[in-house]
Amino acid sequence: MTNELKIKNKIIPFNKKIEVSGDKSLSIRWILFSSISNKKCFAKNLLISEDVLATINAIKKLGIKVHRKDSTCTIYGKGIDGYTYKKNLVINAKNSGTLARLLPGLLIDTPYPIKIIGDNSLSKRDFKRIAEPLSKFGAKFKLKNNKGLPLIINGTKNLKPIKYFEKRGSAQCKSSVIFGGLKTKGTTTIIAKKSRDHTELLCKYLRLPIKIIKKKKYDIINISKINKIKNLNYKIPSDISSSAFFIVLAVLSSNSKLLIRNVNINPSRIGIVKILRKMNIKINFKNTKAYKGEKNADIEIKSPKKIKAINCPSSLNSGAIDEFLVIFLVAAKAKGVSYFKNLSELNEKESPRLKWGAYILNQMGIKTILKKDSIKIFGNPKLKIRKKIVIKNFLKDHRVFMASVIAAYSFGGEWKINDKDSIKTSFPNFLKIINKFIK
Ligand code: S3P
Repeated sequence: MTNELKIKNKIIPFNKKIEVSGDKSLSIRWILFSSISNKKCFAKNLLISEDVLATINAIKKLGIKVHRKDSTCTIYGKGIDGYTYKKNLVINAKNSGTLARLLPGLLIDTPYPIKIIGDNSLSKRDFKRIAEPLSKFGAKFKLKNNKGLPLIINGTKNLKPIKYFEKRGSAQCKSSVIFGGLKTKGTTTIIAKKSRDHTELLCKYLRLPIKIIKKKKYDIINISKINKIKNLNYKIPSDISSSAFFIVLAVLSSNSKLLIRNVNINPSRIGIVKILRKMNIKINFKNTKAYKGEKNADIEIKSPKKIKAINCPSSLNSGAIDEFLVIFLVAAKAKGVSYFKNLSELNEKESPRLKWGAYILNQMGIKTILKKDSIKIFGNPKLKIRKKIVIKNFLKDHRVFMASVIAAYSFGGEWKINDKDSIKTSFPNFLKIINKFIK
């Protein structure tokens, strides 16, 4: 089978400097904000992956001109009410939850119904979580089985501002409602459990009418309708979620050192760093720079002598939500039992990742106690795998694939991992970079 990756050798100690691809959350947000800007917007180092290309195609279908050459891209925005399109529009979000959940916020006043479809995995995910708050603005939604895709959105010109309590810690839900608020006269208020705040930071950078009051566990966000949006020229920094695979590769190797250049280290995204530091791992930020409201830095990791187990505080969950599969691999090598709780959101991702995390660990010979929203991992600092392991049928979840590759190169054994193509979703260069560690 060509779409299968076979691995049977562990990686030998390394000392490397690498650069990973552009941040996915920022790439998608740059495209969406640029499409509603009143000016020409330019980006460098845009992530070129299927999720991002689906976003470009979506705005093109909405009548926005885009010029792209490799990872540089120009978007000719037409303003907040500038989308033009024919009846019966269908937008294919493919695998991208971020696109399929954020874009409807900008479509709540559509004069014609718009249908959003996606791949098998995306279609099964929960869209009620955005349909419910966006309906309060006055738009109407039809969801397959009252939950998934395809969804059809029927807009209204008679939008009303809303008050919304975002309890999950989902940046996608929060951002979708922020976009709705930017289209609606009056003040929309969101009380949002902490989650990545790229959308808010871009609103601030663009001087849009947003006010944020930060409380310990929640942010109170007030937004109102915008008139004009200035141009958004952006050099996308590297993605911490893509970096995470290599951070963990360095952590699980012996006598190794790694530097990853110019990564976005927004405090709401560095849960993995905070968690690993608690597990006795040295990670340094070097060359830290402020950039358009965000923070970027080089990340330096040294492989530790000993890894400590962790009782992971739930307050770190949202900032590490895409990284748990590899964090679990670190727990597998820790001394003692690690405990991760309040993680039901992990089963709402491209695949049920809490279950897949446990499955991979069990295949590796690691004992786990898996509950609906928590996992206990019984670490083994001497873990060496000698058996054959096959990983398949994981709904082509890119992060399950990449985490399995890291496990294979870190712990040994003979692995067959299906659906290599899944990396195209978020990190098409992943295997190219891995190869630098092998040769
Ligand atoms: C994202 C938010 C997170 C994350 C996803 C990207 C974003 O999803 O898992 O990969 O860019 O806003 P949730 O909002 O569902 O937590």
